[in-house]
Amino acid sequence: MCGIVAACARRNVVPVLVEGLKALEYRGYDSAGVLVETGDSFRRARTQGKVRELENLLAADPLDGSTGIAHTRWATHGAPNTRNAHPHVSGDLVGVVHNGIIENHAELRDELVARGYHFDTETDSEVVAHLVHAHLQDGDDLRTATQRAVARLHGAYAIAVVSAGEPGRAIGARQGSPLVVGVGEGENFLASDVQALIRTTRHYIFLEEGDLVDIDRDSVTVIDRDGNEVQRPVKASELSADAVEKGEYRHYMLKEIHEQPRAIADTLEARIAADHILPNIFGVDTETLLRQVRFVQIVACGTSYHAGLVARYWLEELAGIPCAVEVASEYRYRQTVVPPGTLFVAISQSGETADTLAAMRASRSRGHLGVFAVCNAPESSLVREADLVLMTRAGPEIGVASTKAFTTQLAALALLSLELGRINGLDDATYRRHVSELATLPRVIGETLAMEPAIAALAERFVHKQHALFLGRGTHHPVALEGALKLKEISYIHAEAYPAGELKHGPLALVDDHMPVIAVAPNNQLLEKLKSNLEEVRARGGELFVFADADTGLSLDDTRGQIINIGAGGDFIAPAVFTVPLQLLAYHVAVLRGTDVDQPRNLAKSVTVE
Ligand code: G6P
Repeated sequence: MCGIVAACARRNVVPVLVEGLKALEYRGYDSAGVLVETGDSFRRARTQGKVRELENLLAADPLDGSTGIAHTRWATHGAPNTRNAHPHVSGDLVGVVHNGIIENHAELRDELVARGYHFDTETDSEVVAHLVHAHLQDGDDLRTATQRAVARLHGAYAIAVVSAGEPGRAIGARQGSPLVVGVGEGENFLASDVQALIRTTRHYIFLEEGDLVDIDRDSVTVIDRDGNEVQRPVKASELSADAVEKGEYRHYMLKEIHEQPRAIADTLEARIAADHILPNIFGVDTETLLRQVRFVQIVACGTSYHAGLVARYWLEELAGIPCAVEVASEYRYRQTVVPPGTLFVAISQSGETADTLAAMRASRSRGHLGVFAVCNAPESSLVREADLVLMTRAGPEIGVASTKAFTTQLAALALLSLELGRINGLDDATYRRHVSELATLPRVIGETLAMEPAIAALAERFVHKQHALFLGRGTHHPVALEGALKLKEISYIHAEAYPAGELKHGPLALVDDHMPVIAVAPNNQLLEKLKSNLEEVRARGGELFVFADADTGLSLDDTRGQIINIGAGGDFIAPAVFTVPLQLLAYHVAVLRGTDVDQPRNLAKSVTVE
């Protein structure tokens, strides 16, 4: 997945394009490029690496033009080098940026080569430039040429196309990848999302799947998948520019970790009163649907999948509803058996993850009651297509490693579990106790964040490690999975997580004095079992780091590890609370190892390709 921006204005658009790319680096950051129209031709600048490399290039050799396109890449086809960087061109006539994957690119390439086209890159995207060029040669105008070109594409795309033959105009199209129109005063824009343009305009048109859009500085024309001109509403974005600033923090990830009390409070606001959930928080008249739920199928990817794993424990315990959780890339291609009364729950921070969207769409033909989305992006495809929606209100999350999105997802899923519990006969006292406990989550996480100096000191013991093992039981097994994911993605230390009871079935063979073992030990009914598992580690000379409730009675010789006491919160909210020190640990280990914390190698924030 990549980020794209396009602009048609009366001023030099290069600063807008580059600013937009910086905001889109969460989508990929291995190469970047910009192309502007200059009279009857183009000029472009491309480079391997991040957008700041492109800025350096532009500082040395500036570009200037009032219409242009730009791209930040996450390589799928072809190495991340300058030659493969977008924008791609066809002759001096067509410039294209593309996000997505053209699945039939090889076939189209053969056809275009037979027609005399020469390919400069190894990308799937270059076929789009030549296809448009070929249609222009056949006499089409740019809109029709693009329409006919995209009709040939299989797979996913968001594209922006310009032609030197029709200056001042850009065509966008989307199918399976996001694209918005930014509507300005005497200028119009295209971008992969609102964040890219938030300093330029607050007014947006959210394109639908299959839409094509024709913009110039004064007009925006949207054509739907059937070729009809349609009016899509112009919406005002409430996203503030400050929300995407780092402020006083060294990294976005650290800022986002510290924003968790506020983000969770916002997610719970106006949804719970002191000890009960307010009516209709999932939408008016949703209780009728929720009353029919007999089974819950959760589907998600990455960190969101871990949130789903926690929710399974809550749904079965509080609502007595059986629940399955599966990663979306598996679910979408599998023959599934859907029990009657199954609610499909999709969890996604971005609401644009290709596998999650595809799984959600596949669920439509598999006989589910409906789709319930837990999402952080109000205008995302997931939110627009779901039947019921519960928004997390984390605000924009820029760091690739997800933090506040995860804990707000937990807060949202706690609400769903309790609501289904209330409907399914959870006793009133337990229901009220849990809601009251949930209300304390922002405060308890705030207290937990105060442990940061101790965790930063602990991080020093991990700097030279190559591997780490995370253990947890019950709802804390997903917490261990999330802790291991955080550590591996930003510090590049190989980390695995296991349910502590599985230790003896394999991973114990790895334990020696080079293998730190991190355990999550809340004081719950599984504590004694966990203690036995920790003894198994200790007996093999393993170094143990235990995040534990203050009253667990655990003790350790400091030379062989450390107990880190976590502020007391209740058992229900503990998964969210215990996640926080693991986030901080991963963060400080990564900082000490000097990695790129916010943009770890090979990853991207929003994965809009399969
Ligand atoms: C990528 C991100 C993860 C995220 C996952 C799912 O892998 O790097 O942080 O958890 O996608 O994304 P979603 O937007 O669907 O939650």
